[in-house]
Amino acid sequence: MSVQEKIEKLNEKISACQKCPLYKSATQAVPGGPNPDTDIVFIGEAPGHWEDQKGIPFCGRSGNLLDKLLNKINLDRNDIFICNILKHRPPDNRDPTPEEIEACTPWLKEQLLIIEPKIVITLGRFALNYFIPNVYISKTHGQPKKITWQDLNLLLYPLYHPAAGLRNGSVKEDLVNDFLRIPAII
Ligand code: URA
Repeated sequence: MSVQEKIEKLNEKISACQKCPLYKSATQAVPGGPNPDTDIVFIGEAPGHWEDQKGIPFCGRSGNLLDKLLNKINLDRNDIFICNILKHRPPDNRDPTPEEIEACTPWLKEQLLIIEPKIVITLGRFALNYFIPNVYISKTHGQPKKITWQDLNLLLYPLYHPAAGLRNGSVKEDLVNDFLRIPAII
């Protein structure tokens, strides 16, 4: 089975997931995409309003900023895989709870074990803390770190979440500067 076929099969399971109550209030699951045949995976927090409506990760305001940043470094969204810690939208975009993260991240684990990326770019603290618990994004953003995770050798590159950049000018400046260093890192 190809990587694409494996991801499509997994997407069906993710879409039917009822391991936490979020599926009840969400319109649909947002498994991630578009390209699982990639070395680079971006991981955000959870779907927001537009992602929940369209089933596509990062297609609202944060996604608009992410697309602008990807454009700046000539990285095509079609050449990477973008997904989230949670696959269903939390009501009112509240933070994911520890129980939701525990219930949902086995899907992320399966995705990464199928894709076997070389570079994982985390957007925000929830994605960062999935790989390295108890570290602060304010202290670690923009610092690439080699890690071994589930027998995969990954380069982890922690970035601020685009939504945090939209809320705070100095965070946005850090996010842009860190983003511009991606080509040198990959
Ligand atoms: N924020 C996220 O973390 N993920 C999305 O897909 C959209 C907004």
